[in-house]
Amino acid sequence: MSVNTSEEQLYRPNFHFTPKSNWMNDPNGMFYLNGKYHLYFQYYPDDNVWGPMHWGHAVSEDLIVWKEQPIALYPDSLGYIFSGSAVVDVNNTSGFGRDGKIPVVAIFTYHDIKGEQEGAIDFQSQAIAYSLDEGQTWTKYDGNPVLPNPGIKDFRDPKVYWDNEREQWLMVLATYEKSFFYSSSNLKDWELLSDFGETVGEHGGVWECPDIFPMKIEGTEQIKWVLIQSINPGFINGGSGTQYFVGDFDGKTFVLDSTFAKDLEKIETKWLDYGRDNYAGVTWANVPETDGRKLFIGWMSNWDYAKEVPTATWRSAMTIARELKLKVVDGSYMLFSEPVKELDTFKKTILQKANIEFDKTYNITSSDDIALDKAVVEIELSNLSQDRYTFSLENDQGDVVEFGIDNIVQHYFIDRTKSGDLSFSEKFADKISVAPFDTVQDKIHVQILIDKTSIEVFYNNGQTVMTEIFFPNYLMKTLKLISKNHSKLIIEKLVVSELDF
Ligand code: FRU
Repeated sequence: MSVNTSEEQLYRPNFHFTPKSNWMNDPNGMFYLNGKYHLYFQYYPDDNVWGPMHWGHAVSEDLIVWKEQPIALYPDSLGYIFSGSAVVDVNNTSGFGRDGKIPVVAIFTYHDIKGEQEGAIDFQSQAIAYSLDEGQTWTKYDGNPVLPNPGIKDFRDPKVYWDNEREQWLMVLATYEKSFFYSSSNLKDWELLSDFGETVGEHGGVWECPDIFPMKIEGTEQIKWVLIQSINPGFINGGSGTQYFVGDFDGKTFVLDSTFAKDLEKIETKWLDYGRDNYAGVTWANVPETDGRKLFIGWMSNWDYAKEVPTATWRSAMTIARELKLKVVDGSYMLFSEPVKELDTFKKTILQKANIEFDKTYNITSSDDIALDKAVVEIELSNLSQDRYTFSLENDQGDVVEFGIDNIVQHYFIDRTKSGDLSFSEKFADKISVAPFDTVQDKIHVQILIDKTSIEVFYNNGQTVMTEIFFPNYLMKTLKLISKNHSKLIIEKLVVSELDF
């Protein structure tokens, strides 16, 4: 068996998007149009490490099965094509539309590598391109850049949103350790409105890949604005992560909600995902109002080790596509995320149980029942006490990924320190990732997505999420649940499904 064949068998995800070959990082330019979801991505087609950036492209009808397309945007004399967004310009505000064809407009960062190497600071600027064939081929605007660099070294990753209330395009841009807001009527002329973040949020690294949009608070008609803001490094569990803020936007300024920021002196940062492998994620544009969902996808890696992970043919995958919801929990706004409902159509129920009482170890499932590299486990636990509850995903060669609920120290955790190949990077398993919670959990709902090299764990319908990758030496074979101090607990409900891939 050639090296690549075994790499395919052991590591190529079953149900997460990977490029056929070579390097991928951030998701870019996502939009929906005429029954198709488009996903572009930071792509280097000539090697399996980061290099001159292109926009790769993939298309899906269900957000789950992706078909890779020809490369959408190539670097040129103005620079590499860094991250950005795309909008469907329904009213042809840009004037790029022709013969009744609606233009799709991509807004991205040019990274002028020569400028950077020569020590300039103004080597990043914003530019646009348009497509008249639903995102397949693109023409770069001849007036680029549309937003030249004002003398800020990190000045990138434009995310554009149609602000219906003000009837203007709104751009959020990451600028070193802040988010800048701009407006435009035509996607070509941009005016600076305001900035946000100087004194709030994390500042242990550079802010990247922002997103901003209004959301209805679940169960109400009330609207709040959500600002997503990735940071690298500076994530709570190391390297790159994505913080979010909830507040109000009046067309000019984003103001953090007072309940979100109860005590401005010590605002606790909220993370969209507490696992180490969900970065630079943003939302889809142009999802029809009749659907109404806020759809998100992230890059399932971390700059701490992304370039070293042990796959040679391709490097890195996307998370599962997720639906975001805004809810109020204990008087504070929280962004929930769960796998999109389209995943359900791929599920074949393998086992279903209820009311299981145990006090030591419960064998949830094993490869006798199910392929544990394309599985969804939904489990509802009750009667939890001040104990540590560990899910153990393992093979019989000693590779194990442990994750779960620690009611003793009050956090969720993922421990991949014995998960298989760790040799490629010292940072990959240098610590256990945690997501703190305030009060002891006495019951909990957990949904676990297991692919060959990743787990995505959704606690309490996505209130807390943890996504991490791992590289076992053999496929994982069993999933157990262990109650550390043998306190009795109840599995109220257990559903194990295999995904049809
Ligand atoms: C985030 C990022 C972006 C940049 C891109 C370059 O992961 O650093 O800020 O546009 O990657 O590939």
